[in-house]
Amino acid sequence: MQLTVRGVEVVKSCVDEARQARLVEVVRDVWRQAPPYAPETPYGKAMSVRMTSAGAFGWYSDRSGYRYVSEHPNGAAWPGIPEEVLEIWREVTGLERLPECCLVNFYGEGARMGMHQDKDEADFSWPVVSISLGDDGLFRIGNLTRGGKTESVWLNSGDVVVMGGESRLVYHGVDRIRYGSSRLLENGGRINLTLRVVT
Ligand code: SIN
Ligand code: MN
Repeated sequence: MQLTVRGVEVVKSCVDEARQARLVEVVRDVWRQAPPYAPETPYGKAMSVRMTSAGAFGWYSDRSGYRYVSEHPNGAAWPGIPEEVLEIWREVTGLERLPECCLVNFYGEGARMGMHQDKDEADFSWPVVSISLGDDGLFRIGNLTRGGKTESVWLNSGDVVVMGGESRLVYHGVDRIRYGSSRLLENGGRINLTLRVVT
């Protein structure tokens, strides 16, 4: 099933349970190579979401601002984007061009993400694809400028979101997760994989 909210495509149950379990395995592998950390916002506050990346570039934030970097804070190159993840990008976008960053977000109990645009990339004609795994997350979709009316949709494990075209630069965020709502992750929590072409 597919719904479109303000131009954002939400493909419900895009990834079946067997593939979700496999994606969790490959995410654990990424975490082993590139341990998740809580980035600092430019205002000096630790984010409640723990992050890491796979791909040629990782998305990074600290007091110097938001940007892409080619190394994990520990100095190692980011691991490659797992083939299982690239497969989903190909399926939903039909593009030959592949993403250069897979941001791996982990939402534990109480974690949230404020409203923001994904705008650190060079070319906004490429879509952003995100895959949700584990606990349900309340995804809020706003406008092309900050503020104004918003609409929210619950993202469940296996749902895939595509922000492209008119909706590429729409403000979005995650207000809360329903901690413990899914049994995909033994200890609860929500994983979101965001795929982006960077250069
Ligand atoms: C993000 O916008 O970085 C994350 C979106 C999500 O967790 O669904
Ligand atoms: Mn985002």
